[in-house]
Amino acid sequence: AKPLTVPALHAMKKRGERIAALTAYDYSFAALLDQAGVDVILVGDSLGMVVQGHSTTLPVTVEDVVYHTAAVARGCRRALLVADLPFLSDVDAATAVRSGGRMLAEGGASMVKIEGAGPRLAAIEALAANGIPVCAHLGLTPQSVHKLGGFRKQGRTAEAAERLRQEALAVQQAGADLLVLENVPAELAAQVTAASDIPVIGIGAGAACDGQILVGYDIIGLTPGRRPPFSRDFLAGQPSLAAAIEAYVAAVRDGSFPSAAEGA
Ligand code: KIV
Ligand code: NA
Repeated sequence: AKPLTVPALHAMKKRGERIAALTAYDYSFAALLDQAGVDVILVGDSLGMVVQGHSTTLPVTVEDVVYHTAAVARGCRRALLVADLPFLSDVDAATAVRSGGRMLAEGGASMVKIEGAGPRLAAIEALAANGIPVCAHLGLTPQSVHKLGGFRKQGRTAEAAERLRQEALAVQQAGADLLVLENVPAELAAQVTAASDIPVIGIGAGAACDGQILVGYDIIGLTPGRRPPFSRDFLAGQPSLAAAIEAYVAAVRDGSFPSAAEGA
């Protein structure tokens, strides 16, 4: 299969074809996802929590993400590979371009993900202008967990919803090619998706987004403790890990994931 490109993802949105995305942190798991037809593989800074065992994503370094991205890249044939910019590696435009450049040049990623709008708009603009495609990330932005007071739903008041709609327009204006919306009301995510020219990938954001993303380990029961309410056990009733990932891709494509309860 030939590699998916940024324009190909934009074309999927135009055709109304849903985008199936998952996180991966190593070669073997990435190869499993790629062969199951996952469109976008994210080396998330969630690796700080699910691989390193920290309670937040804050300790993750550029070095960590480059290391895991290079491993994942060796397992990617078709999927578009996105690498997270970890905490403060995008604190200003020049720093973000240096960090993002490493994700592409050393890690083999095709895009970087950056949390927030306002103070990050200059970084998004600089990355895009330097040939580094950007996935924006709004709603619950885990790098701001201490400011937000926990991993909780965002955009719940009229004022917060309006702020999010403005941020979504601003990141697109700044040059983002993709947008992750995390843990926001389904209705708000639907509005943002309709108003965006770029594909919107939801996590805990309802079924109306252009695609869905989850932490790969959460859908196969590998994450210790409680599974997030917006995730699903896709290994249940499946004979293999490959079948479980294929079931996830199929459920995203046909819109049967997430259900109303999983999206809420
Ligand atoms: O780090 C991560 O895994 C993420 C996704 C959950 C969107 O940012
Ligand atoms: Na992340």
